[in-house]
Amino acid sequence: MTATTAAFAAYIVAGLLFILSLAGLSRHESAKAGNTFGMAGMAIALVATIGLASRSVSALGIGLLAVAVVIGAAIGLWRARQVEMTGMPELIAILHSFVGLAAVLVGWNGYLSVEANLAEQTEVTGSLLGIHSAEVSIGVFIGAVTFTGSIVAFLKLSGRIKSNPLMLPAHNLLNLGALVAFVVLTVVFVLEPSLLILSLLTLIALALGWHLVASIGGGDMPVVVSMLNSYSGWAAAASGFLLGNDLLIITGALVGSSGAYLSYIMCRAMNRSFISVIAGGFGNEGAASTDDRDYGEHTEIDAESVAELLKDASSVVITPGYGMAVAQAQSAVAELTRHLRDKGVDVRFGIHPVAGRLPGHMNVLLAEAKVPYDIVLEMDEINDDLADTDVVLVIGANDTVNPAATEDPSSPIAGMPVLKVWEAERVVVFKRSMNTGYAGVQNPLFFRENSRMLFGDARERVEDILRAL
Ligand code: TAP
Repeated sequence: MTATTAAFAAYIVAGLLFILSLAGLSRHESAKAGNTFGMAGMAIALVATIGLASRSVSALGIGLLAVAVVIGAAIGLWRARQVEMTGMPELIAILHSFVGLAAVLVGWNGYLSVEANLAEQTEVTGSLLGIHSAEVSIGVFIGAVTFTGSIVAFLKLSGRIKSNPLMLPAHNLLNLGALVAFVVLTVVFVLEPSLLILSLLTLIALALGWHLVASIGGGDMPVVVSMLNSYSGWAAAASGFLLGNDLLIITGALVGSSGAYLSYIMCRAMNRSFISVIAGGFGNEGAASTDDRDYGEHTEIDAESVAELLKDASSVVITPGYGMAVAQAQSAVAELTRHLRDKGVDVRFGIHPVAGRLPGHMNVLLAEAKVPYDIVLEMDEINDDLADTDVVLVIGANDTVNPAATEDPSSPIAGMPVLKVWEAERVVVFKRSMNTGYAGVQNPLFFRENSRMLFGDARERVEDILRAL
């Protein structure tokens, strides 16, 4: 077996491991095995690629490659060990931006190193040159959109810029204009490749990526993250075509299609139009997010009074949100759950599909704290029971329990399905202030007659309740 055949065989094995990895990651119980398959696939892919490269690259080149791998792996390990669970989405966003940037660099390299040589050759290479130029143009475009889009997502998710949608006048026309300009420039570039056209194309794609994600409101960011995940896959696949690397094409297509499917599922869960989200908020004309309406007064409660409420309750539903993750309140919440269940109270959890900052964020935290799976229900499974519930404890959730989503068509989160906690007899909201949630929208729930605000850090307040019980 030649070295090339061995490398291709290794690529097939790596490709299969990536497919097994995706399958494993789709279920909580098999997620660890999924990660292991992914890591094994990537290790095989790296060794095979370096082995292939060593046949045509100088010893210095291989040395540089090894240094790059060691530096990249060290940074990756360091960040992964440091990152808090709440910081995962922004870490993922910044990693997507690296894939985008890599695709732009591969495209530019394709133009600078290959194009110049091909141009001097025969007519046959003329048509190959056209295909190659199209690959460069498409790869650079997808990569640049992914790069700046992911940077904006990173800035929004980490709270460095506002999560409100940027609504430039005629923003849909701007996006459409950029797409048309891309098609025209690609045709010109295929006919007559030039540095000027490639530079223009790159600039337009960078601006489009920035604008697409900046135009999307905070409530839709989960979909944006999975959409950028998909874009980064297609960017990698485009690089695979340029580099003639089959494994990169397979892996890129796997990431691209699974990311697109995840975006579609999340759009359905949030009652959002898939096309609208991938087109940068197309059809969303920027509902007012600065809400200065007077909702009346809110009513506060203390931990001892919540303990009294719980003593008298026979059914309790807990709806956790991002604040539970920030406060690291899951163990205290699990302890409270055990205590109430021992006293015969029917305790269940209602989990919104985008509660927290990651798909499945709350499920992971509750599983870590050993809350039994069978009392952790999806939003659709519990929503109809909330009207018959004595007490709902809203622990650090805000947007996911906002009645404005169903009652106020002018709200930026209008149409998003939410947990109808206000239908319960009594609602206790755990948070530190009257601040808005991630989408920056005021929550009329806090001012309802049956709502009580329990201010302070969620973990400390739950522990106070446990002591009072
Ligand atoms: P949010 O709307 O983000 O609200 C969280 C609430 O927790 C805040 O109002 C905050 O109020 C409170 N809080 C923060 N730290 C706290 C602490 N230590 N103790 C007590 N309360 C605390 O949460 P949600 O209901 O989970 O909604 C998630 C939002 O994130 C949605 O808009 C969703 O679209 C978006 N998003 C989700 C994802 C995924 S995939 N899940 C990804 C990106 C974005 P105070 O500051 O007053 O305490």
